[in-house]
Amino acid sequence: PRVPVVIIGAGPAGLTVANILRAASVDCVVLETESREFVEQRPRAGFIEEWAVRALRHRGLADRLVERAQAHSECEFRIDGEQHRFRYATLTGDRHFVYPQPLLVTDLVREYADVKGGEILFGVRDVALHGIDGDRPAVLYTDPRTGERRRIDCDIVAGCDGARGVTRAHVAPDRGTVARYDYGVGWLALLAEAPPSSDCVVFGVHPRGFGAHMARSPEVTRYYLEVAPGEDPENWSHDRVWSELHARLSATGAPALTEGPLIEKRVLDMHSYVVEPMTYGRLFLAGDSAHLVAPIAAKGMNLALHDALLLADALVAYYLRGDADGLRGYSAACLRRVWEYQEFSRWFAELLHGPSSGDPFRAGSARARLRRILGSPAAAATFAESYIGKVTGPMA
Ligand code: APR
Repeated sequence: PRVPVVIIGAGPAGLTVANILRAASVDCVVLETESREFVEQRPRAGFIEEWAVRALRHRGLADRLVERAQAHSECEFRIDGEQHRFRYATLTGDRHFVYPQPLLVTDLVREYADVKGGEILFGVRDVALHGIDGDRPAVLYTDPRTGERRRIDCDIVAGCDGARGVTRAHVAPDRGTVARYDYGVGWLALLAEAPPSSDCVVFGVHPRGFGAHMARSPEVTRYYLEVAPGEDPENWSHDRVWSELHARLSATGAPALTEGPLIEKRVLDMHSYVVEPMTYGRLFLAGDSAHLVAPIAAKGMNLALHDALLLADALVAYYLRGDADGLRGYSAACLRRVWEYQEFSRWFAELLHGPSSGDPFRAGSARARLRRILGSPAAAATFAESYIGKVTGPMA
């Protein structure tokens, strides 16, 4: 068979592209290695910036999100036993929407496959790309039901297969670069079966290490603890986790944390990478396949959506009007925002990790950085704008 666009990966990036193409009657097919049940339940990111909600809504893809997501307009820093609220929505007009990625994926799969009748092949094996440098690319995969090798000819491949996908392998060293940054710390990522203990995100800046609280749903709360990189999560018993969270997130006047069973406990070696450019012949990378941003300011899903919206709009312009400018400018347009988010995450990470680095110079600088955000209106406005990903330009 022949289809104009093959989309590899049914995460937020691939499904957003698929929905927008389908709505414009541009034919596509999505290939996904996992099952539908799996992608609809996999715990992942949870914060969507308001510009992205507006963009999805504008395309009819955010009805359930707007109905069900909680909107956050503040975050809180805790340092030296004191609470400091930071009201970023007052400064920018934009909020975060707390909507776990599995819910967004569920909505996007339903809209694309069940409502619009789009095709997703789940459970495919051994996806391989052919001829992305020519004008007749093809995607090969193994059909899970029959074990047969199949081929789809296409014009364009959207590589939306995440950080562990196969499409990025086409970035040979002579054709592009992969820029990588290691933060040199681990984050113990926890999901607790416990209601949130604050109505907003809480950043605990502490000499014992950074700690964070993030609401997910009325029943489940995300926590992070800074740990040594490569640390074994098994070293972190239930009691040790909670006593450390209490220590790092305590403040006078703050309610005690509500404890609960830990249903996820993983150590993330905090790092980021950026693939440049994001286009190789007929292959267009989008989302985590092109860039990973350590979860310091909840940027990952937002960048994936930004790429996907740009790619989908560019593809629609190409197929409906023969206008290839969007596709030509795609990589550069994505990368501007990718680097802005990476730079902000790195700047913010130093504020969070400096005080526990063991280096008094870094600790002193980090504390000055936080004082400036909390004390200077100009610094607060700049921080707020980056923190919420305020967008100007065509996506606004
Ligand atoms: N072939 C087909 N599909 C694949 C392959 C492959 N070889 N490898 C991986 N996939 C699938 C994965 O199973 C997953 O469903 O591609 C999808 C990629 O989805 P995500 O990893 O969610 O990536 P993306 O859509 O770019 O969204 C980025 O994910 O982890 C978060 O913080 C991150 O929120 C951000 C978002």
